[in-house]
Amino acid sequence: MTETLTKDDVLKALKNVKAPNGQDIVTLGILSEIVINKGKVYFALTVPQREAKSYEPVRKAAEAAIKSLPGAAGAMVTLTADAKAQGAASAHQAPSGRGIGGIKHIIAVASGKGGVGKSTTAVNLALAFKENGLRVGILDADIYGPSLPRLLAIRNKPELIGDNLLAPIEKYGLKVMSIGFLVEEETPMIWRGPMVISALTQMLKDVAWGDSDILVVDLPPGTGDAQLTMAQQVPLSGAVIVSTPQDLALIDARKGLNMFKRVNVPVLGIVENMSYFLCPKCGHRSDIFSHGGARHEAERLGVPFLGALPLDMAIRETSDSGHPIVAADPSSMNAKVYKTIADTLWQRVSNKEATRQAPKIIME
Ligand SMILES: Nc1ncnc2c1ncn2[C@@H]1O[C@H](COP(=O)(O)OP(=O)(O)OP(=O)(O)O)[C@@H](O)[C@H]1O
Ligand SMILES: [Mg+2]
Repeated sequence: MTETLTKDDVLKALKNVKAPNGQDIVTLGILSEIVINKGKVYFALTVPQREAKSYEPVRKAAEAAIKSLPGAAGAMVTLTADAKAQGAASAHQAPSGRGIGGIKHIIAVASGKGGVGKSTTAVNLALAFKENGLRVGILDADIYGPSLPRLLAIRNKPELIGDNLLAPIEKYGLKVMSIGFLVEEETPMIWRGPMVISALTQMLKDVAWGDSDILVVDLPPGTGDAQLTMAQQVPLSGAVIVSTPQDLALIDARKGLNMFKRVNVPVLGIVENMSYFLCPKCGHRSDIFSHGGARHEAERLGVPFLGALPLDMAIRETSDSGHPIVAADPSSMNAKVYKTIADTLWQRVSNKEATRQAPKIIME
């Protein structure tokens, strides 16, 4: 199949999709930026919150209209509830780039193998983005071992807004969603490929993320098919790889890098976790894993080195108590490292956007 789908094709098809008031959704001006990535089409319909229900068939019709186009590999249309929007989405800033709905950027935190501190890094980075003044969501897509309920001490269940929108749980200023909120901890879960993917896309689509600058996604560990497909299904601005010094020199981190390369997701850099040991008693620093090797290795692989976190009791204890270090002690050394990394990441994703797309000028 050599057909390439263009925005014009999509707009033409959407001209035939009618809103509840009978007007077509293009003329109505409720479309966000349309993003096409390898034949998959992503965009949002901005609708008044109380009309979300009546727009569900419209959303479905829009997806169906696109899927029937030659060259279309899939469609993901979201409803964004915006209390202010009265069919005038074009007058406020439309989400741009590869984001979904009102989310400007989605970044994945990944690792080649489990247990390297991926979730700890994801949650502290999310908190660091927030400390840096951004509006932040965090999605725990680690269906094999969701950890956000524990890391953020969240015990309540998310509430439904209307029929099929879930409200994220707010904690420490973050919007939080985890598959762990929806299933019982003791229930064994058996996931098969397609279910994994639909779980993730649903958590993106059916959660009221609202307007967010950045959504941090904690991916399941590993580089198998499930992770690969997830990385492909979500319009990621980039990925962060978490690695410990010893496996960076080995092949695990490299597998992570290769996976994102295969799906054309830019790797924003490597975070070295448990880089050196900080003695809780005397504050002495020991480079037990030949610290510094990671920076060298990252350079060799041509990937930015983002920073290093020590193996520090304070990081583990704050995580285990559901009050991660960046929230518990924002002025600590560790929090500062996370904030610096978050700052670099934000610069990278927001600048990339600027070079990828010309700025949009909207005249009213
Ligand atoms: N820098 C650190 N210093 C001390 N302990 C840490 C550090 N980073 C993570 N840990 C601890 O290591 C354990 C594993 O961390 P975490 O759950 O974040 O890893 P993960 O890669 O997400 O694991 P999984 O593969 O199981 O999802 C946790 O108990 C966490 O508190
Ligand atoms: Mg984890």
